[in-house]
Amino acid sequence: MKILNLYACLGGNRYKWGDEHEITAVELDPEAARLYQERFPNDTVIVADAHQYLLDHYKEFDFIWSSPPCPTHSRARFARRETTSAEYPDLKLYEEILFLENWFKGKYVVENVIPYYEPLIPALKRGRHLYWTNFNLPNDLNERKSSIMEGKDEVTQWCEFHDYNFRQYKGEQRVDKMARNLVDYEAGKTILDTAMGIIHKQNVNQTSIFDEL
Ligand SMILES: C[S@@+](CC[C@H](N)C(=O)[O-])C[C@H]1O[C@@H](n2cnc3c(N)ncnc32)[C@H](O)[C@@H]1O
Repeated sequence: MKILNLYACLGGNRYKWGDEHEITAVELDPEAARLYQERFPNDTVIVADAHQYLLDHYKEFDFIWSSPPCPTHSRARFARRETTSAEYPDLKLYEEILFLENWFKGKYVVENVIPYYEPLIPALKRGRHLYWTNFNLPNDLNERKSSIMEGKDEVTQWCEFHDYNFRQYKGEQRVDKMARNLVDYEAGKTILDTAMGIIHKQNVNQTSIFDEL
């Protein structure tokens, strides 16, 4: 399958996707993109704005995963509203959902946190995340529980959890924030497997229709 992995970060969702797919990852932070490329040498990594890339290239893919930045939607940030700067929720999240739902012919997943407001478009809630998809997700994504204790060893705990040394990251974002960004790799795998099962089933149906002609 040709897969587009938008806002790829360090590839938490992608870690267990294997090497049988043709994967293009888009990430704006050059240091995160460099490390992603090191982690997944067979993927094509592009340093660009994922929002624009989606618009320009969506037709080239069978499956698209998008994880737009979550801070402006997050309940944790909203809880600190007395002490943090005010920000509009970034509605590019909803632009992408509407766009993919209506324009894209393949399967898609848009993933984000559970927001501090009622989501503008109904979503599937799994664990601590919301998913907008055009296929059904199993109730259980096999997501591992992260019992991370905030504190001085938080990054080390995330390194173990995601099987990745986040301390290699020397870019402009905070290392602990980067480490918190990643989707659990088991959930990422379950979601791709589910989409592939559906796509394969569609292909089988297609073939049998042709067989009958
Ligand atoms: C929530 S993380 C994605 C996590 C990823 N799905 C995973 O499982 O590892 C969001 C990422 O989007 C990147 N980012 C932010 N704005 C971007 C943009 N306009 N285009 C591409 N990447 C962007 C951030 O640098 C960050 O790495």
